[in-house]
Amino acid sequence: MANIILLGPPGAGKGTQAKRLEETRGMVQLSTGDMLKEAIAQGTDLGRRVEGIMARGELVTDEIVIGLIEHKMTEGARGGFIFDGFPRTLKQADALAELMARTGSRLDRVIEMQVDDAALVDRITGRFTCGNCGAVYHDRTHPTRVPGICDACGSTDLRRRADDNAETLKTRLMEYYKKTSPLIGYYYAKGLLTSVDGLADVDTVSSAIASVLD
Ligand code: AP5
Repeated sequence: MANIILLGPPGAGKGTQAKRLEETRGMVQLSTGDMLKEAIAQGTDLGRRVEGIMARGELVTDEIVIGLIEHKMTEGARGGFIFDGFPRTLKQADALAELMARTGSRLDRVIEMQVDDAALVDRITGRFTCGNCGAVYHDRTHPTRVPGICDACGSTDLRRRADDNAETLKTRLMEYYKKTSPLIGYYYAKGLLTSVDGLADVDTVSSAIASVLD
């Protein structure tokens, strides 16, 4: 069992690799982005508060996401947690350390997925996901086998995200470099950081992550 963070800019492949780790290792993905999107889809108070912020590509407040993670961590995970898109600020990283200490667990590794900005534009603008099971696709590099039908669950509910456009990506990247990239140094100093080449194909990235975990 291992608790890990997948760290990287929007489109680095965190969600894609987290889903694979769930399937192959029985780990549990905790994606704050997915939790927030679910709140929007359900029209909750939280969803209404964060919808505009997310559509603009800005980060929501630390208090909101820390609360979401705290709630999910109480449910436990036999294979360990994959933190995907959390923490994104130093305050969130400190809160996670405190939550881990309180629940008697520990953070085993932080895997930084390195990609360059040019590749991210192509990945983000080509992405679509299954609204039913969350499988992630790409128009060019990973289309569904049958157009319009999810390979994994057969659903026809394939969606594109409101924030997946070149203009909003600029804000998302700026937020990443200003607020999230300092975590690279933070976890390096703690001896927890390993970097992998996120530009490689999906299977190669999975193998690199597996060799970090084994
Ligand atoms: P969130 O949903 O977390 O989005 P993100 O971090 O911007 O990351 P993405 O989901 O866009 O990318 P990914 O790295 O998962 O890439 P994927 O695997 O899909 O956050 C959304 C918003 O919520 C934020 O902007 C913020 O407002 C808010 N939020 C969330 N968490 C927060 C927090 N902690 N604090 C504050 N605010 C928060 O891959 C992308 C595409 O590339 C896919 O099409 C895929 O098929 C393709 N692909 C993947 N890997 C490869 C590969 N190796 N080669 C070729 N193509 C690939």
